[in-house]
Amino acid sequence: MDRIRITGGHKLNGTIPISGAKNAALPLMIAGLLTEETLILDNVPRLADVAQLQRILGNHGVDITAQGKRVGDRAYQGQTLHISAADVIDTTAPYELVSRMRASFWVIAPLLARMHEARVSLPGGCAIGTRPVDLLIMALEQLGADISIDAGYVVAKAPGGLKGNAIDFPKVTVSGTHVALMAATLARGTTVIDNAACEPEVADVAACLNKMGARISGAGTPRIVVEGVDQLHGARHTVLPDRIEAGTYAMAVAMTGGDVQLLGARSELLQSALDVLTQAGVEIAVNGDGIRVARNGAGLRPVTVSTAPFPGFPTDLQAQLMALMVNAEGSSRITETIFENRFMHVQELARFGARISLDGETATIHGVDRLRGAPVMATDLRASVSLVIAGLAAEGETMVNRVYHLDRGFERLEEKLSACGASIQRISD
Ligand code: EPZ
Repeated sequence: MDRIRITGGHKLNGTIPISGAKNAALPLMIAGLLTEETLILDNVPRLADVAQLQRILGNHGVDITAQGKRVGDRAYQGQTLHISAADVIDTTAPYELVSRMRASFWVIAPLLARMHEARVSLPGGCAIGTRPVDLLIMALEQLGADISIDAGYVVAKAPGGLKGNAIDFPKVTVSGTHVALMAATLARGTTVIDNAACEPEVADVAACLNKMGARISGAGTPRIVVEGVDQLHGARHTVLPDRIEAGTYAMAVAMTGGDVQLLGARSELLQSALDVLTQAGVEIAVNGDGIRVARNGAGLRPVTVSTAPFPGFPTDLQAQLMALMVNAEGSSRITETIFENRFMHVQELARFGARISLDGETATIHGVDRLRGAPVMATDLRASVSLVIAGLAAEGETMVNRVYHLDRGFERLEEKLSACGASIQRISD
């Protein structure tokens, strides 16, 4: 199993190209199931999760081809996927596949909307909390689906097709909104989704669905209105840049000091995180090529932050911010409001010498002067990268184990960081 070795203490200077967003690419690929024509997606990141979803969609009979590099492509250009679900041969998503990647549960929506039936395994537990799917099921039931649970599978049927209706989410859910949106595109009549997630990835999926012939308005706001259509057609869409990857590298630069251009990053997708970094004393400048992040000399100021749905501070940057605040001059407080168990990195950060105390959903981080490198491992993607950030600033050597978590969501992490002066290598045993 691969590991990553980091020798800390090097400033980051240079340019980091930002890849396409994993959390948009996954639902966009799933949306390909809604039409028998070809959906072409550009700027798809080369990630383990994308490859895994390709296998899962292949199981339903979806044909996916990845186009190779063309003359003039940049070194880091994302891949282009041609997704063709002309013949859906199987409407069952088995446990072996769904349990490896939660987002694959979302195939239930296009399968039900287009094929009028789906049998999808319940995803099971997860390292960052219980993560139920009750609200996804509620949304599909509102659209007229008949749903039962059988031997660990959700069995959904809508023999006459789905019917538009009101869906009012009692809490903001990205997965629930994706599922409601995809299902409503082919439902008869109008669907109004209230308390919808406003995440940019939801708006990106809606933009793609509209190119495919859907009639969606209001995506990116808490009220989305969908006028159902009889069928969708092929389209071409470019995945938006990954705001979490951009925020992660911004925090890495803040941690080590230096000056880095985040190429292609869009500030409006991560304004809350940029505001927190500015508060901490990091220099942020938005320019035509993306976002420039710098910290030279000055210490980091502590911050108080709560995670929240977009446009609030993202839970997917909580672990990285915590790693950064380990080096701040004073005490910071970080409250996690989205997932109940997303503090698995605390014990690992302690291995570097961090002083963090936990009280329910709030962590208090007492800044320390120096960190010492250590062998560490994490149980989820964002926690793993927080350990990389700590390792970049720690004295001596850090070994990050279980690198497959990083490969799920960060494209060429070690290449991007070493190009900016970090001492970071992958070790394949
Ligand atoms: C998406 O997960 C992202 N995943 C997560 O990214 C991200 O952390 C999360 O949104 C929040 O922004 C993808 O896009 C693939 P939710 P999702 O439905 O959609 C509860 C990463 O590291 N809930 O918005 O699963 C749930 O338990 C990841 O890239 C219910 O109670 O998140 C949580 O507390 C991890 N019932 C809250 O809502 C439901 O039926 C928000 O979850 C569904 C959700």
